[in-house]
Amino acid sequence: MNSISIGGVTIEKTAALAPMASVADRAYRALCKENGAAYMVSEMISAKGLCYSDRKTEELCTVLESERPYALQLFGEDPHFIAEAAKRLMEYRPDIIDINMGCPVPKVAGNGAGSALMKNPELAAEIVRAASEAVPVPVTAKIRKGWDENHVNAVELAKALEQAGAAAIAVHGRTKNQMYHGKADWDIIRQVKETVKIPVIGNGDVTSPETAAALYRETGCDLVMIGRGSYGKPWIFGQVKHYLETGEMLPEPSLEKRLEMMCRQVELAVQYKGERIGMSEARRQCAYYLKGMQGAAALRNKCGKLSSLADLRELCSEVVKNCNE
Ligand SMILES: Cc1cc2nc3c(=O)[nH]c(=O)nc-3n(C[C@H](O)[C@H](O)[C@H](O)COP(=O)(O)O)c2cc1C
Repeated sequence: MNSISIGGVTIEKTAALAPMASVADRAYRALCKENGAAYMVSEMISAKGLCYSDRKTEELCTVLESERPYALQLFGEDPHFIAEAAKRLMEYRPDIIDINMGCPVPKVAGNGAGSALMKNPELAAEIVRAASEAVPVPVTAKIRKGWDENHVNAVELAKALEQAGAAAIAVHGRTKNQMYHGKADWDIIRQVKETVKIPVIGNGDVTSPETAAALYRETGCDLVMIGRGSYGKPWIFGQVKHYLETGEMLPEPSLEKRLEMMCRQVELAVQYKGERIGMSEARRQCAYYLKGMQGAAALRNKCGKLSSLADLRELCSEVVKNCNE
């Protein structure tokens, strides 16, 4: 097996699932793992929320044994809270603690956390140092290209974080100002890889086995991380793995198989979060799975009204009926 080591944690060198708040929850991750995701990172968890024992935060920290190797991701701007939160996370037995240094949303960046740490490399390094000293597991960071095109500093920041004890760096090749728009700059990932000795995880715009292989080839990164390219298609991880190992493309799964995975994900979400929350989140998740299918507009409309597992079964029957027409 072709693998990498992040501070002693062995990870298969295929494709990892990117952390995605309110999308890549436990149910989503279960499907990605079953389909071969090499490594996964939790939704971001507020360091302060954890220290004040916020109940919603608890749900975010719970990870299954079957998800290993996995990281729990913290966000915050205060090294003391980060260190304390990292210690508390040990109760959930993560393999790795990751620090979010890329989130652009005002609620996070406006408070000096997430991508705002890119504007303050000394504080970012202090945060990594504090977390590394607080816990026995490797600490990593996920950064962006920079704050904006006039402040591109991923290389300098990665160097500072490595010196502060980071065991790996994930680089999303967009600036904070780009949010999730425009093309990701893979060259910045290559530059970071050429600068630091620790593993570099490349991220941005991987949507297929070919783009995953291209990101490895063009940047020399140690691991590829897929975010939105996995929406409604957890099987992408199996396709990437197969392609990297054999050079062959696996076909898309059959309609039955796709619907089966969709239902399993929703059932798990309902099991973990209850029917009301699970079904309301299923509206968006099912729309991803059904994108591009026969009668997509009407199906999307139906997805928007899902409120029970019975509705979900009815939706599946309609999809099958449409495809047989
Ligand atoms: C809905 C959504 C939620 C995200 N939440 C997080 C998060 O909690 N932590 C994080 O580090 N990045 C988060 N990201 C950024 C992704 O991990 C990833 O860097 C970004 O989507 C680019 O990769 P992609 O082009 O493969 O989607 C999020 C992205 C999206 C679209």
